[in-house]
Amino acid sequence: MLDEKNIAMVLDFAREHGLAVLADEVYQENIYLPGDRFVSFAHVLEAMGISDVSLFSFNSCSKGFWVSAACAAATSSTAMCPRM
Ligand SMILES: Cc1ncc(COP(=O)(O)O)c(C=O)c1O
Repeated sequence: MLDEKNIAMVLDFAREHGLAVLADEVYQENIYLPGDRFVSFAHVLEAMGISDVSLFSFNSCSKGFWVSAACAAATSSTAMCPRM
């Protein structure tokens, strides 16, 4: 699990190099540090106002309680994503 700062670094790198991001967010329920919380790539993407990076978030029916939508980075499409 990446924290918000590390996710921002990944997104900045992707934007700089014209890359899409495939985020495996299967283990978002597995939080072991007290006070820690899952932050999704979609949340950070939106918070940073990034609209030119394609983001695909993956989950699993067998391991997650709910599945994040696969998203493109356009503001309109991130609206489909869960706010976490
Ligand atoms: C990190 C991670 N992502 C995705 C998967 C794929 O999950 P599934 O086989 O339930 O689709 C696994 C399976 O172990 C996994 O460990």
